[in-house]
Amino acid sequence: MTDKSSSDRTTHFGFQTVSESEKAGKVAEVFHSVAAKYDLMNDLMSGGIHRLWKRFTIELSGVRPGNRVLDIAGGTGDLTRKFSSLVGPTGEVVLADINASMLKVGRDRLLDKGVAGNVRFVQADAEKLPFPDNHFDCITIAFGLRNVTHKEDAIASMLRVLKPGGRLLVLEFSKPGNELLSKAYDRYSFTMLPLMGRLITGDADSYRYLAESIRMHPDQETLKGMMEEAGFARVTYHNMTGGIVALHRGIKP
Ligand SMILES: C[S@@+](CC[C@H](N)C(=O)[O-])C[C@H]1O[C@@H](n2cnc3c(N)ncnc32)[C@H](O)[C@@H]1O
Repeated sequence: MTDKSSSDRTTHFGFQTVSESEKAGKVAEVFHSVAAKYDLMNDLMSGGIHRLWKRFTIELSGVRPGNRVLDIAGGTGDLTRKFSSLVGPTGEVVLADINASMLKVGRDRLLDKGVAGNVRFVQADAEKLPFPDNHFDCITIAFGLRNVTHKEDAIASMLRVLKPGGRLLVLEFSKPGNELLSKAYDRYSFTMLPLMGRLITGDADSYRYLAESIRMHPDQETLKGMMEEAGFARVTYHNMTGGIVALHRGIKP
């Protein structure tokens, strides 16, 4: 038996099969392309509902004054902004993202909104987090894990940098429970998202990737199993909007 090097192994980029070494570059192109219009598109595509999904994530995070929080794949900083006011002047929030364009939009936006003192901006890959062991009270990854090439490595890396008792929250698109909803959602995703992408950002392909990558992402039970396999305890999930989105939470033992 021969081991395959990472350039030979394949993975998914939406519905395409690509070599593992190509995927991160392709994901980077998507987010460089959409960064400037990312927030507008989020509101348009979800009818603003992403704000409710994020609010529920904050509620379940249990973050308190003085906590240290990592918002990885944090993009334009929706969660970071809320965490910044929750942890207060004695706490710290790290907004981390692999993509310089998304991080720049996030940093400019948070500075414009007067969020600064307790937020640090770090360019980092979720698979290889550049932080010490047992460092954070809470980590969130919202709509980010889907884009990561080696999801097991990212989950292990997040476990490593959490303190014992710390929480990981994974907010991600998932599998709708109802057949009718699933069909309507498919029709919407594969027609409306690329169309909106083309009209608003001039880039239909990135929004086609969005729809495809959602279909390729592990469903609720599979992701729960992956978190347990990595070593998380008390892993639970909550479906939202009929399972279109799920919030998984696990605790570091
Ligand atoms: C859909 S956006 C989500 C942004 C934000 N969390 C939100 O909910 O609005 C996905 C983000 O994941 C980032 N990302 C993709 N792969 C990553 C990786 N391996 N490590 C860290 N961030 C990554 C992208 O650059 C992008 O900013």
